[in-house]
Amino acid sequence: MDTLPARVACVYVTDRSPEQRAAYEWCAEAATTADIVSFAAVAEGAVDLGAYDAVWWHRDAPLDDGPAVVRESAPRIHSFLEDGGGVLLSLRALSAVEPLGIDSVRPDAVGVEDVHEPAGFARKALYADHPVFESFDDRFHLASPDDGRQFARYETLVPERGQVLGSSLRGDDLLVGHKSLLSWRVGAGAVAGVGEHLQFDCESGETRECDRFARNLLASLSSDRWPTFTERPDDTEGFETVRTALSDDHHRPGYHLAAPANWLNDPNGLVYHDGRYHLFYQYNPAGPFHGSIHWGHATSEDLVDWRDEPVALSPSPDGPDRDGCWSGCTVVDTDGTPRLLYTGGRGRVQLPCLATAADDELRTWTKHAENPVIEAAPTDPPVLATNDWDAEFRDHCVWRQDGVWYQLIGAGAQSGGGVVLLYRGESLDEWEYVGPLFGREEPDPGTVWECPELLTFEEGELLQVSNYDRTIYFVGEADLDAPDFAPTNEGVLDYGDYYAPQSLRAPDGRVLTWGWLPEARDLDAQWRAGWSGAMSLPRELDVSGGDIVQRPAAELASLRERSALSGDVSLSAGERRALRVTGNSYELAFDVALEEGATFELGTFESPALSERTVVRYDGESVVVDRSASSHGPAARGEQRMPVGGDSLSLRAFVDGSVLELFANERRCLTSRVYPTRDDAEGVSLAAVGGGATLRSARAWELEATFPAGKRRS
Ligand code: FRU
Repeated sequence: MDTLPARVACVYVTDRSPEQRAAYEWCAEAATTADIVSFAAVAEGAVDLGAYDAVWWHRDAPLDDGPAVVRESAPRIHSFLEDGGGVLLSLRALSAVEPLGIDSVRPDAVGVEDVHEPAGFARKALYADHPVFESFDDRFHLASPDDGRQFARYETLVPERGQVLGSSLRGDDLLVGHKSLLSWRVGAGAVAGVGEHLQFDCESGETRECDRFARNLLASLSSDRWPTFTERPDDTEGFETVRTALSDDHHRPGYHLAAPANWLNDPNGLVYHDGRYHLFYQYNPAGPFHGSIHWGHATSEDLVDWRDEPVALSPSPDGPDRDGCWSGCTVVDTDGTPRLLYTGGRGRVQLPCLATAADDELRTWTKHAENPVIEAAPTDPPVLATNDWDAEFRDHCVWRQDGVWYQLIGAGAQSGGGVVLLYRGESLDEWEYVGPLFGREEPDPGTVWECPELLTFEEGELLQVSNYDRTIYFVGEADLDAPDFAPTNEGVLDYGDYYAPQSLRAPDGRVLTWGWLPEARDLDAQWRAGWSGAMSLPRELDVSGGDIVQRPAAELASLRERSALSGDVSLSAGERRALRVTGNSYELAFDVALEEGATFELGTFESPALSERTVVRYDGESVVVDRSASSHGPAARGEQRMPVGGDSLSLRAFVDGSVLELFANERRCLTSRVYPTRDDAEGVSLAAVGGGATLRSARAWELEATFPAGKRRS
């Protein structure tokens, strides 16, 4: 191999181990220059780092807190980075990000382990063009099985500022939680962290993939090719590049809100403030899987065009939310200041935490110094303890009534079933337990009622909870003194892939609600896609005639572009009619009336020969989404069924990438996630089977994708 045009300072503290010697010897052969430089020399300024392109520290011994000389050399390493230098920290040296002042959070898992399979990395989809992966597959092995391997990685935690380029691969197993391949930008320079699998002291004759990877690392750190885009944007740098990197994905929704990349679950902290809708969401910056939960943030003036904002809330390494900032809500305090209540998780304990907006854009939040604001879960009823948590006690709904704050928290009861617990407070940081507001047995005794929400409408109150499976609702009346909730009606909010909704009150008084649309494909597929989860459309929610009303927010009509159908459509038995809709971003609306014995079929996501298609069927009693032929790939095939009843069906269907969101009779919803493998699975058809069907006022519109690759209309 030709010489790597890089001048490398190979740093060490005192003695060099065989592994360290092997690494630096390899470097001496591979690179133009490889000088062995002591940290003492760096700290004293006895060596001019400006003479090098990269500083490499490879260390296979524990780092613990020191050595002091590492901290002492931090200012010089910093100016080297500021000026555009590159730093590679490998194996246990990854922990030096903290003493070197590169990140405040150091790897939380360090040690020595026996590795029984070939080990390497799976790169995140977002980094397909990153130069460190040049000429490597998206999954690759670097090291052979061996005992006593040194490692440093982030498992529960993630760095505060760094980006995860990939996770660990053992044999064929993707260990998403083993985050050991990372990158930081510092000034004009870059830092790469490779906390495992780089081994140089190997048996001769072994394949040297590791050399090749180390060359890529040193070459790209020594050049100006290290990407500048970041998954952790600040005020100056946005998410556009991140969105662009994933734009070539026909499953990606165009007008449903999804995170720029990585993982999204519940909507949080929904509020209309200062002329904008704010939607925060559970976000994992480490990749498209649940873990190390932060709060992502998006804003909109019109519910249609959304702008990505920087991450709003991150776990504090020393706080009660160290392991994650879980779901919660925004509430405007009596002095007009927005605050949020969320669940902090640490170890086996989850407790309510408070934060206060530090700016009008709600971009920065100051955490309450006395968090958590409730010290422990209540004991009456005893709260469910599980393998994960001492008490399953989380998620918040807060409102003010008659001069008092009230708070609902979701929980599981130790005796079985879900329960919603009621608190009362004079202020947002002092709470008194009132008692269980409402609870119920569930088929699975380990069930927790998550994300409770109590909403008041003219015609009654609505309590909704998510029970691991679905979001269920109860219409009725709450007595906050007893406390008690007396339901007069109940049902399911959405019969498909929809969970953990939360609502806000719009300035015109409407209650708007969003739910999380989880993926219906496995972790592996999500990893390859580079993103996971989307928000439902904003839905107007109401109670009328003793039941709920759900309809798409009126503002969504502004997405309509080309009209592809307008008028009545009569279908005779056996007739199938294709619609001329282009793309997978459209809305359909019509009222269906059936002849005796007839079934109406709406075909969506249809490939030209119909080998892939998702069929929505209506037989007069239910609407069924048949996913049995939705995809040639591995994805959920199960049928989803929503009872509708009545003589006719008024249907609105929204199709968007991998989302099919159905509204029936302005009451019931069914949202489905489908993943056709073929790019041309975009056909739409209407058919009647076993009898005729009439569609009245049938309309179809192609909809504008407001989120393709960071393209925004405004
Ligand atoms: C619901 C939920 C909440 C929790 C959050 C964690 O999907 O499990 O109960 O706060 O997600 O991300």
